[in-house]
Amino acid sequence: MRLLLATLVPVGVAFISVGVLANYVAVARFNAFFQSDIQQRDARLVGAFSHEYLFEHSWANAPDAVQRFALLTGERLVLVDAKGTVLADSGSATDIGRRAAANWHRPEPIWVGSQQVGTLYVNPTLPSRTESQQEGRVLANVNRSLLLGLLVAAAVSLLVSFVAARTIGRQMASLIDVARQIGKGDLSPRARTVSGELGELAVAINGMAADLQRSLRLRQQMVADVAHELRNPLQNINGYLEALKDGVAAADEHTLNILRSESNVLRQLVDDLQDLSLAESGAMAIELEPVRVEEQVRAVVSSMQPRADERRVALSNDLPLELAPVQADARRLRQVISNLVSNALKYTQPGGRVWLTAAVENGQLELTVADNGSGIGQRDQELIFERFYRVDPARARATGGAGLGLTIAKELVQAMHGSIGVRSQPVHGSEFWVRLPLAQPAAVPAPVAPHA
Ligand SMILES: Nc1ncnc2c1ncn2[C@@H]1O[C@H](COP(=O)(O)OP(=O)(O)O)[C@@H](O)[C@H]1O
Ligand SMILES: [Mg+2]
Repeated sequence: MRLLLATLVPVGVAFISVGVLANYVAVARFNAFFQSDIQQRDARLVGAFSHEYLFEHSWANAPDAVQRFALLTGERLVLVDAKGTVLADSGSATDIGRRAAANWHRPEPIWVGSQQVGTLYVNPTLPSRTESQQEGRVLANVNRSLLLGLLVAAAVSLLVSFVAARTIGRQMASLIDVARQIGKGDLSPRARTVSGELGELAVAINGMAADLQRSLRLRQQMVADVAHELRNPLQNINGYLEALKDGVAAADEHTLNILRSESNVLRQLVDDLQDLSLAESGAMAIELEPVRVEEQVRAVVSSMQPRADERRVALSNDLPLELAPVQADARRLRQVISNLVSNALKYTQPGGRVWLTAAVENGQLELTVADNGSGIGQRDQELIFERFYRVDPARARATGGAGLGLTIAKELVQAMHGSIGVRSQPVHGSEFWVRLPLAQPAAVPAPVAPHA
């Protein structure tokens, strides 16, 4: 309803102003037209009368001429001589011989040479020249057609805006309906897409519903995955505890070690989940400052060395001695490097090798963790950064990962405004790269100009 009013009010205002303007213009134009028409006719009449006088050298023929011309023009003509006495009147005979009344309109002096021989009055008692009957009739006609046009136009615009308001109103109602259903949690309805702005709104609403549906599915999947990951170690712990209780297993070092490693798996999983949820919600405290990558790599390599030795994999730090510092969070960067190195050690056979290199290019530092291990197939390369994704779930479980390491690494690198990716060929090995922006060199204070 408000929509209808909003359309109608400006249309109405426009039409009324056009009507008023057109009327005003028409009146002015007709006035000008009749004015000049009357002036020309009066001049012709005066010319004819002066010709009459010139012919007779007197007004002897005046009554006759007045009657004739009055018949021609259809107006009342009164002829007055030079002294102001009425000689002839086509309207009535009562004024003949009297003086012309002072309030008569439209006096037209009649000249012969330089001498005024009389005065002609045209319709002397009508109120004003412009309001002659004819003129009034024409103007009334104009006004009537204007009013008619106005009414027709108003009716048409009313109809058009009513139809438009109804279609827009209906489309809006369907959009509101869909939005309400989505708000209530039913993500399946979709708005009908029409053309125009409302169509764009419908597309936006549909896109939003699809996004919500996707993230809802991801959340459900995540809960299922977490439950699945928790079940295994819990079942193992439970089994050993039952065996201990029944006296089937002894509480020796072997059993306790197994129990501890299973509970470590649980702890690692919980830690990973917490990191992931913090990083994904943007709530993880990341403190960016200039960081020396080579120092972080050195720390990770030396802490991983025992594990590499245990797996009989050669772990080497091939970084240049000195590199430009990057803008990063040192602790989180170490976490990323640890994840990559631990993966490389995990997926490389004994006798293989893992090495780290780095180079600066285009204002960025690229760190790579390479191995000559199992490698990753093309299809899997796109998926390994997704949560809980493992190329070979059975084997990966034996090595203890839940498929969250790379997801967390990616979130952390992105939080440090960097990027991460992989180049790999099955059998030949993999090469994970991390690119981070270089730290801005500390601004050198400009020399202070001495004051004059
Ligand atoms: N260096 C690597 N060589 C071969 N495959 C790898 C390597 N790093 C990661 N992957 C594959 O990517 C998957 C996901 O890695 P990640 O997220 O760290 O999970 P997790 O290590 O818990 O299995 C691994 O399961 C593995 O299949
Ligand atoms: Mg891992």
